[in-house]
Amino acid sequence: MNYQKANSERFKLAYKLAQTAGELIIAGRKNNSFEQSYKNHNELVTSIDQQVDDFLISELKSHFTEDQFLTEESYIPGQDEFDYTSPTWVIDPIDGTVNFALGHPQVAVSIAYVEKNEVQFGIVHCPFLNETFYAIKDEGAFLNQVPIKVSECDDLSNALVATGLPYDKSTIQNLLPNINTIITHARDIRRNGSAAIDLCWVACGRLQAYFETVQPWDMAAGTLIAKEAGAYTGHYGDQIQDSDLIPDLMSKQLLISVPTIHPQLQELLK
Ligand code: IPD
Ligand code: CA
Ligand code: CA
Repeated sequence: MNYQKANSERFKLAYKLAQTAGELIIAGRKNNSFEQSYKNHNELVTSIDQQVDDFLISELKSHFTEDQFLTEESYIPGQDEFDYTSPTWVIDPIDGTVNFALGHPQVAVSIAYVEKNEVQFGIVHCPFLNETFYAIKDEGAFLNQVPIKVSECDDLSNALVATGLPYDKSTIQNLLPNINTIITHARDIRRNGSAAIDLCWVACGRLQAYFETVQPWDMAAGTLIAKEAGAYTGHYGDQIQDSDLIPDLMSKQLLISVPTIHPQLQELLK
């Protein structure tokens, strides 16, 4: 199978599976049929996170048996050395687990496909909002099949900026100066509880910037979507990244914004 054809088959399948995953998420919440527990002492996880993760891996594997998987719920620390030149899926089955468990609508299935050391396409499906964002490398970004672009923003004082805070409370004090800086210089700040949605909202003009330290599965799809919609994608601060990762998956101190305000934000954030 040639490269283009295989990837368009992967894209079509992943797009369809994202919708089915969304149905599982909606059904799980409707029936209130999920269990809740904590991983790493403070990270909420539900039985639906695991169910959707298992579902996506088994469906994709049944079609593409050799593909590799970096997914949030199958991830075992230390076992993340992939050959990213070969087909690899980077998946967050539910981005916004706390929102999911508490009945908020900002919940997403995030699926990215990596090959040749780059994210080739990304899909972020938001089942409670009836919105599917996607981008294919060099082919633009879309929301429900309609092309999207970042907004115009000449001045940081007009920018609505999203961020997130870690579940591990021990590092929060170090992050507060950045929050202080942003609320002083920007229009306002948002904490949506889903990094994938924050990135897509920069892509479609609902936000002008997003910064946070996250994991590759939180940002792989959304970052391509933002980039293809015209955002600048980069990092702030001292940029210490995991050396095993390719640039498209470097998820620490992520800074994604409308191009005009990117240098100023990079300057301001520590
Ligand atoms: C979380 C969300 C949140 C971000 C956290 C992530 P999860 O993902 O993306 O916005 O602030 O860092 O862990 O746990 O809901 O998949
Ligand atoms: Ca996540
Ligand atoms: Ca998750």
